[in-house]
Amino acid sequence: MTREAVKLAPSILSADFARLGEEIAAAEQAGADRIHVDVMDGHFVPNLTMGPPIVRSLRPVTRLPLETHLMITNPDKFLDDFADAGSDPLLVHLEGNDNLHRTVQHIKALGKRAGVVINPATPAGALEEILQDVDQVLIMTVNPGFGHQHFLHTTLPKISMVRQMIDRLKPECELEVDGGINPKTAPLVVEAGATVLVAGSAIFGHDEGVAAATKLLRAAASRSAN
Ligand code: DX5
Ligand code: ZN
Repeated sequence: MTREAVKLAPSILSADFARLGEEIAAAEQAGADRIHVDVMDGHFVPNLTMGPPIVRSLRPVTRLPLETHLMITNPDKFLDDFADAGSDPLLVHLEGNDNLHRTVQHIKALGKRAGVVINPATPAGALEEILQDVDQVLIMTVNPGFGHQHFLHTTLPKISMVRQMIDRLKPECELEVDGGINPKTAPLVVEAGATVLVAGSAIFGHDEGVAAATKLLRAAASRSAN
């Protein structure tokens, strides 16, 4: 099946926070498709990062969507604040949410694109009933909480399974992966069916800079058998 070009979503978790605006401008200039903002609360995951004020400050510095990945307990409580600050899409985890459908409807009522995220141990089948209602699915390819972790190869069969499920139920739904994506792992996930790649350290932690890193990752992503 012919697919659109793979999209790249640099995660600012690995950027230099003192130069966040410049880092994002560099990613945009290098051809990034969206900016991935990792929000952690020290409870849902064992790390703390950023909140709506950072999204609000970043909104005017780029034309790219500020895709916001909420790794927080009770995301419903903060959806309005993030939407108001400029987040779109809003991505929420399936784990720990007993009212996922309500959360997704809340995001849509705010006029934003909605995405559901699953952790490495969550089975593909858990997505089946929510798929029709979302614009994208994000499969974690590391355990959420930190950048610079190794890609979990055991997630590859799950990516393929979700690809099939999407093709069957909602072909326009994006299939995104997050964690340990670099020029070595990118061809594997694209081959398995991913259409959007999140990359933090491979882009913002690269010795040769953001532009060279983005180019390398894009080349690797298009090297998979198309
Ligand atoms: C991990 C975050 C990722 C992280 C990816 O919990 O959700 O978005 O920034 O970082 P890398 O690409 O370095 O694995
Ligand atoms: Zn993320």
